[in-house]
Amino acid sequence: AIADLKGLKQGTLRLAVVTTAKYVIPRILGPFCQRYPGIDISLTVTNHQHVLDSLSSNRDDLYILSQLPDESDAKVYPFLENPLVVLAPCNHPLAKEKDIPLIRMAEEPFIMREPGSGTRKAVQKLFDQHGLPLKVKLDLGSNEAIKQAIAGGMGLSVLSKHTLALEGLNNQLIILDVEGFPIERYWYVVHPSGKQLSAIARAFFDYLLNEGKRVAEETSYQRLLEH
Ligand code: PGA
Repeated sequence: AIADLKGLKQGTLRLAVVTTAKYVIPRILGPFCQRYPGIDISLTVTNHQHVLDSLSSNRDDLYILSQLPDESDAKVYPFLENPLVVLAPCNHPLAKEKDIPLIRMAEEPFIMREPGSGTRKAVQKLFDQHGLPLKVKLDLGSNEAIKQAIAGGMGLSVLSKHTLALEGLNNQLIILDVEGFPIERYWYVVHPSGKQLSAIARAFFDYLLNEGKRVAEETSYQRLLEH
């Protein structure tokens, strides 16, 4: 029966995911592809706005992002935490402080993701809610480039904690303990409400919801380092 199941699942799975998910989804695809060797994957990594665009033009089978517009009638299912944290260089004067007031962030030069980014939207929303302006010194369209800019002393930024997945022992960045952080968010797997999923897409959808969190934890780089 297992051979039948495997035989049934042939073809391409098309995924569009936000940039933060690139630290996790490719890892958890490994065990999935071992289970269904007949499947090929097309994975697009892009920002929140572009994932929404592919969703509305039905370009892919499944989409992964952290928030949907209120008017969307797509079906969303949370499968993993995606907390946003404040990052600073290790030698930053605030590095050892506890409970740093949010207002203190307004004094620091800030690095922001590009317009269209879900990370940017979440950060902007928090500061808007508190009526605090941010001194944005730099807009950057890449989590990795932002980490380099922080390490280089350009300023602080807020990124998904998952972007630290590969930092390992040479980490030059530190998470600051700031009031209101981490911003608690989730990744959702999304499909258009009326859409009939292919057998492959259904299998991946079930895998993500049932096993995604466990496999993500088991295959995480930090975890591999600890063993
Ligand atoms: P972004 O989305 O890559 O557009 O910032 C990430 C997220 O919303 O988690």
